[in-house]
Amino acid sequence: MATPREIRVGLIGFGTIGTGVVKMLTARRAAIDAILGARLRLVRIADLDTRTDRGVRLPKGVLVNDVRRILDDPSIDIVIELMGGYDPARKFMLEAIRAGKSVATANKALLATHGAEIFKAAARARVDVGFEASTGGGIPIVRVLRDAVSADRNRGVYGIVNGTCNHILSTMAADGTGFATALAQAQADGLAEADPTFDIDGIDSAHKLVLLSALAFGADVRLKEIHTEGIRSVEQIDVAGARDLGYAVKLLAIGICDGRRVTARVHPALVPEAHVLAGVGGAFNAIYVDGESLGSSMYYGLGAGMMPTATAVVGDVIELARNRLTGTASVVPPFGVPTLRRLPVVPMGDLRTAYYLRIMVRDRPGVLAEIAGLLGHERISIATVIQQGQGGGAVPIVIRTHEARERDLQAALKRIRRMRAVQGAPVCLRIEENLA
Ligand code: HSE
Repeated sequence: MATPREIRVGLIGFGTIGTGVVKMLTARRAAIDAILGARLRLVRIADLDTRTDRGVRLPKGVLVNDVRRILDDPSIDIVIELMGGYDPARKFMLEAIRAGKSVATANKALLATHGAEIFKAAARARVDVGFEASTGGGIPIVRVLRDAVSADRNRGVYGIVNGTCNHILSTMAADGTGFATALAQAQADGLAEADPTFDIDGIDSAHKLVLLSALAFGADVRLKEIHTEGIRSVEQIDVAGARDLGYAVKLLAIGICDGRRVTARVHPALVPEAHVLAGVGGAFNAIYVDGESLGSSMYYGLGAGMMPTATAVVGDVIELARNRLTGTASVVPPFGVPTLRRLPVVPMGDLRTAYYLRIMVRDRPGVLAEIAGLLGHERISIATVIQQGQGGGAVPIVIRTHEARERDLQAALKRIRRMRAVQGAPVCLRIEENLA
């Protein structure tokens, strides 16, 4: 009997997820070999830091600080890129592809900005790029949208796709913890990006929305076309105020497509407590998909962290290894379609939704009437008003509006901001009342 072939793997980036991948490849070695009917061996790891103890035992010589030992090694079949960031990750990935190696990556930032270049190079070299870990961490949403529901017409995707933000907002809602402590906790749990501003400013979610829009709608949405707001402005008082009104605050990545135009926005939103997305807490992620034939479906699981994300990476490595063993590649296009379509993006000003507004004001007679007047001037109708506290300092006025047009709301806010009694920037959160 012929000896089973060996598939040789190199890992670039030995951080949190890289460590999880090494742990999994080690602990599950026999099982993975049995799945493949071949030996899968991690032969080299490249990272500038070769000293930190990651709690995994490696044979001598496996961990090196020179990436060339992977890129220039013709015996390596598959490269796992987990260094993150744009460059040099892009350069290394393209080099690996051009050298005929398949690549598995969790790098949504890179794919959302340079995906076209990378996938084109992979198609030309007839190698695969696996990116299941890039969106939703351990949730297999890439395969779901690319393959399982590809026959359906997906009308919308509503994602809680940033574990750091969801963890922060959930902690703030649960026990009144402040933003900074909740962020530090998320970082300590290994959820945050190297630069946590990508998480809290919504950029990480926007990267993922680029990929979700391609997968769900076959749409080529560019990062700069996505209206992106993070959670910095959300305070404890808003989380509590939303709860009193019957909502949970969630950072949502929303993609909607009617076949002609696409909506793509990332922002904190009030989700009705009764909606299934409102119950997604902590580091969990969920992608809620509205399909014409399937109806509503939701894909839920841990969207960040060492072992959940490593599970998706190693799942990709197994698929890439199978393709190499059978001599196939690029059978399924990365996003399930031969080419993505450029569709016009609906301007944010055209959005119609209800709003939660929190305006800090000096408590004086006539202030509320003036705010109501400015909203009324823009044809914005108020559903409820709550003023908490009283006295000399600033007090919050919380307003819930009926459905209004974003352009009108922003015009009113501009004038409200200029009022002498208003202190600081008003907080404006959209209410996703009509979630499919
Ligand atoms: N920083 C990301 C998050 C990791 O918090 O969800 C997964 O992409």
